Amino acid sequence: MTRFLDLPSMCRLVQQVGMPRFLRELSEAITEDYLRWNDFDKSARLACHSPGGVIELMPVADAQRFAFKYVNGHPNNTRLGMPTVMAFGVLADVATGYPLLLSELTLTTALRTAATSALVARKLARPGSRRMALIGNGAQGEFQALAFHTLVGIDEIRVFDLDRNATDKLVRNLAAWPGLRVIRADSTAHAVRGADIVTTVTADKTLATILTPEMIEPGMHINGVGGDCPGKTEIPPDVLRRAKVFVEYEPQTRIEGDIQQLPADFPVTELWRVLAGLAAGREHAQQVTVFDSVGFALEDYSALRYVHALAQEHGIGEDVVLVPPAGNPKDLFGRIAGASAAAALRANDVARPAMKRVA
Ligand SMILES: NC(=O)c1ccc[n+]([C@@H]2O[C@H](COP(=O)([O-])OP(=O)(O)OC[C@H]3O[C@@H](n4cnc5c(N)ncnc54)[C@H](O)[C@@H]3O)[C@@H](O)[C@H]2O)c1
Repeated sequence: MTRFLDLPSMCRLVQQVGMPRFLRELSEAITEDYLRWNDFDKSARLACHSPGGVIELMPVADAQRFAFKYVNGHPNNTRLGMPTVMAFGVLADVATGYPLLLSELTLTTALRTAATSALVARKLARPGSRRMALIGNGAQGEFQALAFHTLVGIDEIRVFDLDRNATDKLVRNLAAWPGLRVIRADSTAHAVRGADIVTTVTADKTLATILTPEMIEPGMHINGVGGDCPGKTEIPPDVLRRAKVFVEYEPQTRIEGDIQQLPADFPVTELWRVLAGLAAGREHAQQVTVFDSVGFALEDYSALRYVHALAQEHGIGEDVVLVPPAGNPKDLFGRIAGASAAAALRANDVARPAMKRVA
C-alpha cells in the first residue's frame, strides 16, 4: 500500500512532533544526504515556463529510493487567493518502482527550504550571529524565521514586506514564540542595517533589486531564497561580485539562481563540498557570503524519507491503493470489477446511445 499524506495530515504530524524538533531532524536528514552526494543520480529540474509562472518536476534517486516533486511558482497567485508555491511528491522503491509515499509538499517545501537555509547559515554565517533581516513576509516567512531561531540562534528578526498585511500576519504568527523578538522595519534598508544575516524571500517574476551594494556590511551572510527561476532574481550582480557565493547544484543554479546574471565562469562553491570538508566556507570575519538558494531535489528526497518514517511512527496519513496491491499482477483487467468486469463494461456501452438521445 502507498502511504498518503495530505495537507491536514502533514499539519498534524508537525504539531505532534513540534516545529523545533521537526526542523532539527529535517536539517539533519538533509545534511546526511548532502554528505552522500556521489550516491545520487542528479539532474537540473525540468521547467515549463508561462508568462505568469513556472511548473517544475524535480527528480533524484540513489540505489534505494527515487523521489520527485511537482512544484509551481506563480507570484501573482496570491491575488487570486492561491499560494505562490504549491507542491506534492512521491517517494518510490528503486528495486521495484513501487510508490511508497504520495505526499503534500507545499508545507514540507517551506520546512525543507528553511531547514536548508539554516544548516547552510550554520556553516557560513559568522559564529554568534544573533540578528537577521527578513525581506518578504509571505508563505515562507515564518518557517525561515523559526529555522534561524531554532537552529542558528537568531533571537532578533527585523521584517519588511511591500505588503503590510503580509508583515502583520507574520508578526501575529510569531508573537507568542518564546525568545524571538520580531521588529517591523519601514524599509529593506532599515531591516538590513546591522544584521548578521539577511534573508530575501520575495516573489516577483522579474530581475528585482532587493539588496543594493550600500546595504551590505562586511561579514554579512545573505540567504537568497526568492531568486530561483530564469528572469526572477533578488540580488543584483554588484552584490554577488563582492561576495563568496555558495550553491546547491551548480548546473541548476547557473540557470535559475541569482548568478544567472553573471558569466558562466563566475566562481561558486557547491554546498556539499563545504559540508564534507572538501572546500572552504567563510574565510574571514569580514567576508560577505551568499547562499544562492534555488531548492534542489535532494532536499525533497530527504524531506520525503523523513516524513515517511515519521508518518509510520505516529500512525498519521492513510494507506491508499494507488497501484495494484498483491494478487494476480497480470490480471489488471480483472481489477475493474472482478469477474463481472466485462459485463459491467458492456452495460455501460449500451447505456451511452440512450444518454445521447436524451441530450
Ligand atoms: N529556494 C527555494 O528553495 C525556494 C523554496 C520555496 C520558495 N522559494 C521562493 O521564495 C519566494 C517566496 O515564496 P512565498 O511562498 O513566501 O511567496 P509569497 O507570495 O507568499 O510571498 C512573497 C512576498 O514577497 C513580497 N515582495 C515581493 N516583492 C517584494 C519587494 N521588492 N520587497 C519586499 N517584499 C516583496 C510580497 O509582497 C509577498 O508578501 C518565491 O519567489 C518562491 O519562488 C524558493
